[in-house]
Amino acid sequence: MISNNAHAMPEETRLAGKLATLVPFTETHGRRAAYASWLRNPDIVKTLNLPSYLESPISEGGIRDYYQTMISSPTDFFFAILLNKDNQFIGTAKAGHIDFFARHADIGVMIGEKSLWGMGIATDSLRALANFMFDEIDLRRLSAGVMANNPSMVRVFEKLGFQKEGCFREQDRLGDLYIDHIHLGCLKAEFIK
Ligand SMILES: CC(C)(COP(=O)(O)OP(=O)(O)OC[C@H]1O[C@@H](n2cnc3c(N)ncnc32)[C@H](O)[C@@H]1OP(=O)(O)O)[C@@H](O)C(=O)NCCC(=O)NCCS
Repeated sequence: MISNNAHAMPEETRLAGKLATLVPFTETHGRRAAYASWLRNPDIVKTLNLPSYLESPISEGGIRDYYQTMISSPTDFFFAILLNKDNQFIGTAKAGHIDFFARHADIGVMIGEKSLWGMGIATDSLRALANFMFDEIDLRRLSAGVMANNPSMVRVFEKLGFQKEGCFREQDRLGDLYIDHIHLGCLKAEFIK
């Protein structure tokens, strides 16, 4: 049982969806060439709001620092997404900034294998994660921030019952463009399982 420390997530944790399963992210996932290739692919990172990843490819050390920080964080759960049909590692999902007192967290997802976009895998993965956060971690509320140039991500959250709660106008920058940042939230009773 996890009470107030995300780092205490048991390594055998499995969050199973219909299409994919989330497992705790490990060094083994972090060392996979596929993982680095996703983080260096402009098509993937341009909606992640990480301008430095677009300026120059992130180094091996930068990748390691990121996932080690996530794995050891007491307020984040970081998962690898594996396809159910063949266990292929195809992306990551996280629940971040977990507040165990007010009982809320942010959630997010990256499907690194672009050929798999549009098949419902992000929705399926986040549904499994939201189920876990509401039912096992006993949160009341989940939230997310999405760049407005990412309508498919907004659609995924709306399919799960999230509502748009606000728009920070021109908050994000992509090259010479300033892009709105959309905030979404979902209370436990609104979640569409
Ligand atoms: C955004 C992302 C997670 C979506 O993953 P996915 O597996 O393709 O998502 P799903 O297939 O579950 O759902 C996508 C939905 O968006 C819809 N969609 C696709 N393009 C769209 C567009 N231009 N406008 C509106 N909806 C769109 C799809 O039709 C689908 O909805 P439907 O089931 O009602 O048809 C994936 O593209 C990704 O990982 N991108 C890079 C990383 C990223 O941006 N992460 C999110 C950071 S906040």
